[in-house]
Formats: sequence, C-alpha cells, structure tokens
Amino acid sequence: MNRPVTQESRESEIGNLLLSEQLIRQRVEALAADIRTAYSPGPFTILGLLNGSLLFTADLLRELPPETEVVFWRVKSYEGTISTGNPEGLEAEGGEFAGRRVLVVDDILDSGCTLRAVEKRLRDLGARAIEYCVLLSKQRPRSPGAPVPRWIGFEIPDQFVVGYGLDYEGRYRGLRSIRVLAEEKMSMERFP
Ligand code: IMP
Ligand code: MG
Repeated sequence: MNRPVTQESRESEIGNLLLSEQLIRQRVEALAADIRTAYSPGPFTILGLLNGSLLFTADLLRELPPETEVVFWRVKSYEGTISTGNPEGLEAEGGEFAGRRVLVVDDILDSGCTLRAVEKRLRDLGARAIEYCVLLSKQRPRSPGAPVPRWIGFEIPDQFVVGYGLDYEGRYRGLRSIRVLAEEKMSMERFP
C-alpha cells in the first residue's frame, strides 16, 4: 500500500533542516509588523529582488498596507554555489523611484555585492531614502561598501542554503522550509 509522503520527509532529502515553515512564518509576520510601524504613514515602495525574494516578498506584502507599491528587479550573481561578485542585469532595470522611499527586499545577504549594486542603481534613479530587509544574513565578512540592512530575519552560519525562494541551479525554490543543501545534491549532474 502506498503511504502518503509528508512534506517534511520529502524536503528532508534535500538537506538538514535549518528553519521550519512555522518559524519562517512567525518571523515574517514580526518583520512585517515592524515595517508597518516604521513606514507609517506611507507611501513607500517595496523593491523585491528576483528570483530569490519571490516568496518572502509575497508573504511580507500580504501583511502590509493595501497601498504599498511593489516593483521587482531581476538580479543574478550566483553560478551554482559560487558568487560571481558581479550582479548582472541591473542596467536594464528601472521604475519611478525619484523622490520615493524604497524598501529593498532580498532573500539573503552574503557578500553584500548585490545590495551594493542595487543601492547605486536606485540612487542613479533618484530614490530618496533606501532601507533593506533580508530574510537571512550569513555570518561572514562583507564586501567594502555593502549596505547594512535595517531588518534581518535570521542570522545563519556560512553554509549554502535552499528553500523558501533560495535555489541551487534553479532548483528547490518551492520548499516550505530552509535547508542546508546536502553535499550529494551539489555534485549531482544537472539532468541525470
Ligand atoms: P551577495 O551579492 O553575495 O550578497 O549574494 C546575494 C545573492 O546570492 C542572494 O540574493 C542569493 O540569490 C544568492 N545567495 C547567496 N547565498 C546563497 C545561498 O546560500 N543559497 C542560495 N542563494 C544564495
Ligand atoms: Mg537573489
């Protein structure tokens, strides 16, 4: 007889649990409550960085005032588990940022190269005040000039993690939990 495979056992193959779905949900609600207070009265614009912040931005947004505007930019700087240190795609991104307060939302702060490049682009577009909210912050040295986020969901060890938006080679973004990617998954052929 086939037994239903639980979410936990399905996700556990990917790697050891770091943050459960419930813990993530509670922390996102707490962050959103704090952001609501800080930006009251509005207006402000959320700038979500794709693809990694897809789920985090969507969950935050549902807890924020209905007037909150959201814009997404696409930025890529990772090949596998290695940062290229050179975020790509920003010159193609724009929007109405002149004179606006902007809250940049990203999945994880690692070297800080991504946020530094996003900050420069936003300043060129005339943003008035820029703050940062990251779900995860890796405990490691940052690049010079990396912005310091006002909101951080969790400080985590310097390991490669996946789930809740974070990927490895495009995989695992849809996991409900965040996991430390298992070694054998890293060396796996892309299309076995
Ligand atoms: P940074 O520019 O080095 O700070 O890297 C930030 C970006 O790298 C994030 O937006 C993520 O997309 C990606 N990244 C960094 N660490 C991880 C990880 O452990 N798992 C998945 N993606 C990561
Ligand atoms: Mg990212």
